[in-house]
Amino acid sequence: MRNIVGNPARGDNFFKRDREVGKILVSIENENNIQIAAPRRVGKTSILFHMLDVAVEGHKYVYVDTESIDSEEEFYKRLLKEIIKVPGIQGVAAKFLNAASVLARKIKSLKVMEVEVDMQEENEAVSYFDDLVHFLCGIQLDNGEKLILLIDEFPQTILNILNRQGTEAATRFLQSNRTLRLNPDILNKVRFIYTGSIGLNHTVAAIDSTAFINDLNTLEIEPLTAIEAGELLDSLLAVRGVVMRPSARNYLLDKLEWLIPFHIQLLVQELLRLDLPIDGIHEQHVDKAFEEIISARNDNHFAHYHSRLKSQFKGQELKYALEMLRLVAKDGVISRAQLLDQAYVFDVVDQYKKIIEILVYDGYINNVGQRDIYRFNSPVVRLWWNKYAY
Ligand SMILES: Nc1ncnc2c1ncn2[C@@H]1O[C@H](COP(=O)(O)OP(=O)(O)O)[C@@H](O)[C@H]1O
Ligand SMILES: [Mg+2]
Repeated sequence: MRNIVGNPARGDNFFKRDREVGKILVSIENENNIQIAAPRRVGKTSILFHMLDVAVEGHKYVYVDTESIDSEEEFYKRLLKEIIKVPGIQGVAAKFLNAASVLARKIKSLKVMEVEVDMQEENEAVSYFDDLVHFLCGIQLDNGEKLILLIDEFPQTILNILNRQGTEAATRFLQSNRTLRLNPDILNKVRFIYTGSIGLNHTVAAIDSTAFINDLNTLEIEPLTAIEAGELLDSLLAVRGVVMRPSARNYLLDKLEWLIPFHIQLLVQELLRLDLPIDGIHEQHVDKAFEEIISARNDNHFAHYHSRLKSQFKGQELKYALEMLRLVAKDGVISRAQLLDQAYVFDVVDQYKKIIEILVYDGYINNVGQRDIYRFNSPVVRLWWNKYAY
């Protein structure tokens, strides 16, 4: 296993996430469509790629990153295009294309499928959405096999449509997605898994469209357990022939607290840059690696925590969010009472609960264990915050 830092992990570099994959499979088994919720960098895309790469449970998977898509038409066109690439679907697609009814509809998708057929004038009245519905209704999969659509960065697509075409278009987009996945002829063979690095619930709530996603089963991706994190650490060090004293290993895992693969990889990278003694890594090296992890050269890995707040919040809300994070980074904790006091100061009393919810959802802070006390999820992000963000 190589220490890849920054790109989704694939193949041998993917550290197994059996619990998370298991949860997804059970939910598919239970006939759900799913939204995967987890903050940025927790490993969502890597899990989707893994399911795609090894075709878990014999399903057919289609991965689509929709981050740059900003219209409903483009979205369904991309889906159709990617579905048609799936091995074993081509035959079905050809049959679909040859069906007289399809030709009669002069379907737009002939272009998508890049099939040599006399192209007729595009009929604007027929949409890619119609084609996709038609296609998915028509396909036959082998005994009980399912087509699983992995749709990454979906909330960003909603925001793109919202920004380009307004609320009505964004709402219509959510509505057509719901219509598609709940179509009885599609429901029995196709499953939708949506995910993305901004919260779907908050994005949708902001345009009063929660009703269009309330059929989705929400699954959370958790960080690694201490045992898993230790295994990942060991295997990343082992390939480089480096050993670690057991006390230093425990010390590192305790200090890291929020055990996402990404932060373990960053720490390993820093440990391997140090002059290490022959008897391996000691606590003092761990401390040094923690200092180095927030050095300027790693800034690109953390700067987004700060910059993305500006697209999430505006005006007083932004000022409040930044000040709360500054305080909790400085003091280590912040109480609910302080959060409310400050909400008065910043004149955001009506919005502060939502702001805190978003900061929790997006992986900045949590109140696990003590309901009225919030702290940073990650001591590493807290260190970075104290140094750079004010
Ligand atoms: N299962 C895994 N095995 C190894 N590395 C991982 C794994 N999951 C995540 N990572 C690391 O964390 C980084 C972020 O993962 P990614 O899947 O892109 O997260 P997300 O999609 O949640 O933002 C990756 O670049 C990779 O370095
Ligand atoms: Mg991702």
